[in-house]
Amino acid sequence: MRSPLDGKLLVVSGKGGVGKSTMAAALGLAAARRGRRTIVVEVGEENRVAEIFGRPAGEAGATVALADGLSSISIDPDRALLEWLQALGGRVSGRLLASSGTFQYFAAAAPGAKEVVTMLKIWQLTHTSGRRRAGYDLVVVDAPATGHALGLLGSPRTFGAIARVGPIASQTRHVQDLLEDPASTAFVAVALGTEMAVTEALELQQGLELQLGRSLSAVIVNGLLPKRFSASELRRIEALGEIDATGVDSSLRRTAVAAARAAHARSRLQQNQLARLRRRSMQVVSVPFVWNGELGIAELKSIAERIDRDL
Ligand SMILES: Nc1ncnc2c1ncn2[C@@H]1O[C@H](COP(=O)(O)OP(=O)(O)OP(=O)(O)O)[C@@H](O)[C@H]1O
Ligand SMILES: [Mg+2]
Repeated sequence: MRSPLDGKLLVVSGKGGVGKSTMAAALGLAAARRGRRTIVVEVGEENRVAEIFGRPAGEAGATVALADGLSSISIDPDRALLEWLQALGGRVSGRLLASSGTFQYFAAAAPGAKEVVTMLKIWQLTHTSGRRRAGYDLVVVDAPATGHALGLLGSPRTFGAIARVGPIASQTRHVQDLLEDPASTAFVAVALGTEMAVTEALELQQGLELQLGRSLSAVIVNGLLPKRFSASELRRIEALGEIDATGVDSSLRRTAVAAARAAHARSRLQQNQLARLRRRSMQVVSVPFVWNGELGIAELKSIAERIDRDL
């Protein structure tokens, strides 16, 4: 696979709040612009992706059209498990299952069941069967934050180990094969240029290696500030602050120098974190911080163009 956008499945994770949903939407848009029919899957009760495109959230489990060749769907693991049990139980009524505690009992007795059923749904979206095409070339998963994402990705193996034979075993095997196949599945971490977010991206890398023998294709470092001044420029600005002949009063000069210093320091911290990733030979894609309030479709397009160029 030349680019993570060229496979069948692309899983996006990272620390909470770093821009995973935004980047999953941008990755989806970049793939769609390459002519690939793409769906972004949000896991949980989120509907961020449709929101970014200004679309009303669809019902859970309903597909929402976002742009040419791009749609989104939200999979709620609780609901996915309930549906799966109903399909399995046949005549057991949904109401009984939901209300009698049977569901809670099953969910507690079979740890990882929700996750594995969610993974099965994702697999179905990627799947091209002889007779019926799901209709997507690429499935982008806006996965939960690192720890939960690793739980989700590890569930086919853990669960498959419990159910060794029967339909579950063969289904989990398909999912496991898909996740392990470098020609089909890619993993991308999203981070901010902060110590904690980069550490979490590296933890995701470690977890992938350990669980699946896989690696991150890239780390998207989001929210980068511009490098406004070099160190020597900053020194010149600081010197200007001392000069009384500028016609600007001294308190304003001091404030301006402090602002320049702060901008320089914040950007340097971010650059140090980028360097930390590069030292570990990670492919890094940087995305600037967007200043104009709401991040909408126009901003998303320019992020998608950057990703398209760098991935
Ligand atoms: N490059 C950027 N510039 C400015 N704001 C951004 C940028 N990327 C994301 N944001 C904003 O940051 C917030 C969090 O983004 P997002 O919802 O994508 O994060 P997340 O990692 O999916 O969060 P969660 O862990 O809660 O699912 C949103 O308000 C989003 O608009
Ligand atoms: Mg999100």
